[in-house]
Amino acid sequence: MTAATISVNTSSAGRMRPLNLLRDLPAVADLIEICFSSTLDPEGRSYIDQMRRSGYDSSFLNWAPRVIETVSLPLTGFVWESRGRVVGNVSLIPFNSGKKKIFLVANVATHPDYRRQGIAGHLTETAIRRAQERHATSVWLHVRDDNPGAIQLYQNLGFVERARRTSWQVQSGIKPNTSLPSGLQIIPPSPRDWVIHSAWFARAYPPELDWYRPQTWNIFQPGILKFLYRLMTDTSISQWSAQQDGTLMGMIGFQHAAYQPGQLWAALPVMPDARAVTAMLLHARSRLLYPHNLMFEYPCGPLDDAIRAAGFSPARTLVWMENATPATL
Ligand SMILES: CC(C)(COP(=O)(O)OP(=O)(O)OC[C@H]1O[C@@H](n2cnc3c(N)ncnc32)[C@H](O)[C@@H]1OP(=O)(O)O)[C@@H](O)C(=O)NCCC(=O)NCCS
Repeated sequence: MTAATISVNTSSAGRMRPLNLLRDLPAVADLIEICFSSTLDPEGRSYIDQMRRSGYDSSFLNWAPRVIETVSLPLTGFVWESRGRVVGNVSLIPFNSGKKKIFLVANVATHPDYRRQGIAGHLTETAIRRAQERHATSVWLHVRDDNPGAIQLYQNLGFVERARRTSWQVQSGIKPNTSLPSGLQIIPPSPRDWVIHSAWFARAYPPELDWYRPQTWNIFQPGILKFLYRLMTDTSISQWSAQQDGTLMGMIGFQHAAYQPGQLWAALPVMPDARAVTAMLLHARSRLLYPHNLMFEYPCGPLDDAIRAAGFSPARTLVWMENATPATL
């Protein structure tokens, strides 16, 4: 590869080796727990518990090595070992999207006692090279925007920012106010407005990240085919569109599939009206049965205040980065 090559400080005792699924999972779970303790949410904790349990589950350990290339799980990667102890980790997770083979670099972690010695850089660089050997179409990762050290690390290795998304959660204790600004109407969207709504959705949720999510905003497309698809996948939807004196101001869609939290999607024009956005979100909240178990992602930026005004608070902002280093293999 042609990006800056990270050298490991010779004072750091240890060596890098591929993850050994049969042996390393509990130690990697412990390391991730130490390194991410300040940002772990319940989902993160259950991920770590699952990883630890899998490390002791013999049926999983028999099955997992055979599906490494086909399932999107952190089953391959590299660890840094020092005096028999795992002190660094990187996971490499494959995603198949049409003809594209995309790899996600994840769980990059170095034990606090071993930092700034080049370990994470070396592990990540090796993971990129391994993805390229496996004919990756591209290599991605995501990192919290409040982690400038890690962002610097990834930039050093040739990653560039492609998107920045905030995940919002509903604040408890706020009663939605459903009175509308004058002239604003919230109504079911007309199927003939789908061309406009889909263009607005595509701007907020560009297809280059579709490989990561099982479903996209296409779920709201009118027509019999999507209707049948929703029926077969046990997915329900609700949609609200805002109009000001007959002009379309945007659309909010709610999607719910069995055993998953509900998800909100926003289709908004290039210059959205903040009052209309707040009103639509408040309206959606007031119509939902379980508004507190809700996921809502939107590109972070000028609409943050309008979203906050509807009683949402930011859970985290993720920077999505793609490795722009040309493969030389
Ligand atoms: C981020 C993390 C993985 C870095 O591990 P590391 O082994 O110390 O990183 P490296 O020594 O390979 O750093 C290589 C370069 O990245 C940048 N970098 C790494 N950590 C940095 C920090 N805390 N502040 C500023 N720059 C940093 C520097 O440019 C560094 O080069 P330098 O030391 O010559 O200045 C480690 O701090 C960690 O485990 N943090 C908690 C978990 C985490 O945030 N993981 C990333 C999730 S996306």
